[in-house]
Amino acid sequence: MANLKKIVLTVVFGAVFGSPITALAAQGQSAQSLLLEKFQSGNYSKKGADSCLMCHRKSDTVMALFTGVHGNASHSNGPMAQLQCETCHGPQGKHKGKNEPMIQFGADGNVDAQLQDSVCLSCHQDSERMAWHDSLHAAEDLSCVSCHSVHVSRDPILDRSQQVAQCSSCHTEQQADMHKRSSHPMVNGAMVCSDCHAPHGSLSEASLKQTSINDSCADCHAEKRGPFLWEHEPVVDDCTNCHQVHGSVNDNLLTRQAPQLCQNCHQPDGHQFNAEQPDGVFTTGASCLNCHSQVHGSNHPSGNYLRK
Ligand code: HEC
Ligand code: HEC
Ligand code: HEC
Ligand code: HEC
Ligand code: HEC
Ligand code: HEC
Ligand code: HEC
Ligand code: HEC
Ligand code: HEC
Ligand code: HEC
Repeated sequence: MANLKKIVLTVVFGAVFGSPITALAAQGQSAQSLLLEKFQSGNYSKKGADSCLMCHRKSDTVMALFTGVHGNASHSNGPMAQLQCETCHGPQGKHKGKNEPMIQFGADGNVDAQLQDSVCLSCHQDSERMAWHDSLHAAEDLSCVSCHSVHVSRDPILDRSQQVAQCSSCHTEQQADMHKRSSHPMVNGAMVCSDCHAPHGSLSEASLKQTSINDSCADCHAEKRGPFLWEHEPVVDDCTNCHQVHGSVNDNLLTRQAPQLCQNCHQPDGHQFNAEQPDGVFTTGASCLNCHSQVHGSNHPSGNYLRK
């Protein structure tokens, strides 16, 4: 056993310093299972943070913890009121440097995303994180720390002026969209992704905060939802029938410009008004909106055909 541990440790530290992780599997024990064993034996230090700071005080990153919520000892359910550094990094055991690992977070961490998350969720498993395990982010092996930082005075993702940039670092398609001619005001941070999306997942399509796309839009554009005396079916159905939410080259976030937008669904046959026109409103491409101005629906008593 002692022998095995020695081999494992060599391999583990090999991995920490960049040699192929597959070597770990070949040894039959990963850094993760070693850390789990360490966790189970629960060999915590006697002096908490003080024992760590003996060596880690020099690091500005480490010390920045104390300027943020997790380093605040007055939070009775925060880490400082519990096992301090070891609440998150696991028991010290024999760690005094490269001899034995501690739990490391992030994409290059030494335990998998689920295990990293379990550390955070031990305190943050609440209604906000209920859908996390079924979210696409969790399925894609993102962890809490893909978005959050704790060794900082203020977590940047919680800052509205920084969130969009952080989400966009992975979501380049949405980033490109929001720089198009028409977009929601996200470039300047007036609006952020989490105005519409639940960052920790939800039961709705595309992890929306609301139960449907139209309910999401109605949060801010209630006047477009109706109910109207004269409804327009595609509006009731789904705003994205005509709008491209993250941005569009067309005005008003439209997927296409009128009349093409309308002609996508409406054929000239049967448009009686068409026959009265020498050129025909469909064929000349005169904008449908000149006459059908109430495209979202109308409450005017004579607003049939969405004309007023
Ligand atoms: C709330 C959980 C939590 C607590 C408490 C915590 N850490 Fe961390 N630690 C992290 C995470 C997460 C990271 C990855 C970087 C980040 O997100 O800020 C990290 C990173 C580190 C690093 C690597 C820093 C680097 O330069 O890359 C060290 C060393 C460290 N922590 C030591 C400590 C010490 C010492 C304490 C106690 C004073 C402590 N941590 C308390 C979660 C925690
Ligand atoms: C005797 C000195 C010493 C003590 C005590 C000590 N550490 Fe370390 N620790 C180190 C050294 C050295 C490293 C390796 C640093 C490196 O790789 O650059 C390290 C690495 C780490 C890392 C990984 C850093 C990374 O690069 O991600 C974490 C996390 C960590 N220590 C946490 C702790 C915690 C928590 C405690 C207290 C329970 C603690 N350490 C106590 C010396 C110490
Ligand atoms: C020991 C419990 C504990 C652990 C473990 C823990 N947290 Fe926290 N966390 C807290 C407390 C307490 C607060 C402050 C809550 C409040 O103000 O209501 C907090 C606040 C936060 C906040 C909000 C910060 C703010 O400025 O308002 C975020 C984000 C967060 N934690 C993320 C994490 C992440 C990510 C991890 C894992 C790396 C983690 N937490 C681990 C207890 C914990
Ligand atoms: C995709 C990025 C992302 C991931 C991954 C993520 N968060 Fe968050 N988190 C956010 C954003 C953005 C906010 C700001 C709140 C908002 O606007 O809804 C937030 C807020 C929080 C808060 C403070 C407010 C609240 O909801 O209680 C806590 C605590 C928190 N997250 C914990 C976690 C934990 C724990 C995990 C891992 C299970 C996690 N987060 C994963 C983006 C993320
Ligand atoms: C005004 C509300 C709103 C805002 C703000 C918003 N989204 Fe969306 N997002 C939606 C809606 C509605 C959908 C689903 C319909 C669709 O894909 O058009 C969606 C879908 C997505 C999808 C899934 C796309 C797919 O093809 O499956 C991703 C990823 C996404 N959004 C990321 C982001 C990011 C990143 C931001 C911030 C830069 C953001 N969203 C801002 C409303 C919004
Ligand atoms: C580390 C990279 C990364 C970061 C940071 C990130 N995401 Fe994602 N996100 C992904 C991946 C990977 C997927 C799954 C594949 C895809 O749809 O692109 C995804 C999927 C999504 C989806 C579709 C979810 C669904 O259920 O259909 C939405 C919405 C989304 N992300 C929003 C956000 C928001 C909002 C933020 C910032 C708070 C964010 N993401 C930050 C990588 C990231
Ligand atoms: C959190 C509030 C909010 C939500 C939710 C929201 N919007 Fe918006 N929307 C805005 C703001 C703010 C503007 C910019 C208004 C301005 O510039 O005068 C805007 C503008 C628009 C525009 C006009 C764009 C332009 O170029 O003039 C359209 C179209 C639009 N939103 C559609 C939608 C749709 C569809 C949804 C649902 C998927 C939605 N919005 C959800 C706040 C929101
Ligand atoms: C049948 C296509 C279509 C559908 C579906 C649709 N819209 Fe529009 N929308 C348009 C057109 C065309 C314009 C530009 C002309 C105008 O302002 O009426 C527009 C403009 C807008 C504007 C910006 C102009 C303004 O009046 O503020 C907002 C906001 C908007 N739509 C929200 C919505 C919402 C919310 C939904 C879903 C409830 C929705 N739209 C569904 C076609 C549509
Ligand atoms: C996604 C498909 C779709 C798009 C795009 C669309 N419509 Fe419609 N529209 C419908 C459907 C479905 C109906 C109801 C069934 C019918 O009468 O054909 C309808 C009905 C109408 C009506 C008749 C309303 C009434 O009171 O009987 C008018 C007028 C109309 N649409 C105009 C427009 C205009 C103008 C546009 C472009 C801005 C447009 N439509 C875009 C699907 C669409
Ligand atoms: C010059 C004014 C005018 C223009 C431009 C116009 N319409 Fe109409 N439309 C009418 C009037 C008036 C009616 C109702 C009586 C009728 O059918 O003649 C009508 C009826 C309709 C109807 C319901 C009857 C049917 O045919 O199903 C639809 C759908 C429609 N228009 C779509 C469009 C579309 C799409 C465009 C653009 C390509 C458009 N209209 C352009 C005036 C116009």
